[in-house]
Amino acid sequence: MEIKNICILGAGNLGSRIALQSAVSGFVVSVYDIEQKSLDFSQATIVRLLQHLFRSGEVSGEREAEIVARINFTLDPQEAVEEADLISESVTEDPTVKRKVWRQFGEIAPAKTIFTTNTSYMLASMFAEDSGRPEKFCAFHFHDVFYSRVVDIMPHTGTDPGIIPVLEALGRKLKQVPVVLKKENPGYLFNTLLLALLGAAAKLLNKEVASIQDIDRAWMVNFHMPMGPFGIMDSVGLDTAWHIISALPDRHSQAFAVLLKGYLNEGKSGEKSGAGFYTYPNPEFKDPDFIK
Ligand SMILES: NC(=O)c1ccc[n+]([C@@H]2O[C@H](COP(=O)([O-])OP(=O)(O)OC[C@H]3O[C@@H](n4cnc5c(N)ncnc54)[C@H](O)[C@@H]3O)[C@@H](O)[C@H]2O)c1
Repeated sequence: MEIKNICILGAGNLGSRIALQSAVSGFVVSVYDIEQKSLDFSQATIVRLLQHLFRSGEVSGEREAEIVARINFTLDPQEAVEEADLISESVTEDPTVKRKVWRQFGEIAPAKTIFTTNTSYMLASMFAEDSGRPEKFCAFHFHDVFYSRVVDIMPHTGTDPGIIPVLEALGRKLKQVPVVLKKENPGYLFNTLLLALLGAAAKLLNKEVASIQDIDRAWMVNFHMPMGPFGIMDSVGLDTAWHIISALPDRHSQAFAVLLKGYLNEGKSGEKSGAGFYTYPNPEFKDPDFIK
């Protein structure tokens, strides 16, 4: 099956990025949200990211009008989905919201439409039945689309295996590197590995083994990384990190969740708020002397 039209549900951070990459890659895109302010945010984000792609030479500036014209923003669910070959859902990471959205779009989407969710830590099997077409339902999970380009393809036991090659081909057209999971796993591949690293860093800090800077330094120097685990948490957002870590039952995760809550209570949610473990826009780990 050939994918030409992509419908994005949720015009937030990730929905906007997937929408832009889809338009850059030649797809016709419809972006749906329940809030006009989210659609406004999405339009502004797309223009900003597009300028960045022009500056880095990844996309020619002459293509701006053509790319922008390929994206339609709408508050009307019917209009959003009427031509869709595929839905990529990036609504709020809340099972109640996702369930409601899949029930709604399961009823109004054309029969041909493939359903994909971009959930970070939940499973496709949690929503597949709600969608009314479990065989067409699969997790298709992006990271940040432009810098981190792995896309996880994670079917549930009822997914039609014929959908996998369609998603692999789509992932490549969207300039991602597809990886296919053989079974469902919360956190897919990369996020599972990342959580282990962040958990180890949190444990070292809780046990007062070393400073935030030295823990990050150890990782950055040996693996030639631009940031360490605490820099990563700042970039993900300490609010998101708190949601994930506070749900883990072990003693160290719970202690670290309390520490994160302290930062959040001070209005420090990481890079997006200007402060977290480091201060932005010039965190000390970006100083070349940091790793000397
Ligand atoms: N932020 C990340 O780094 C990241 C990475 C990969 C995957 N994800 C996943 O992508 C999804 C979205 O994350 P985000 O960071 O873009 O969140 P976000 O908060 O930036 O955006 C969520 C959007 O969903 C909209 N929304 C809420 N209810 C809706 C409904 N009923 N119908 C349509 N839209 C609705 C909100 O108005 C908002 O615009 C989550 O499942 C998240 O786990 C996030």
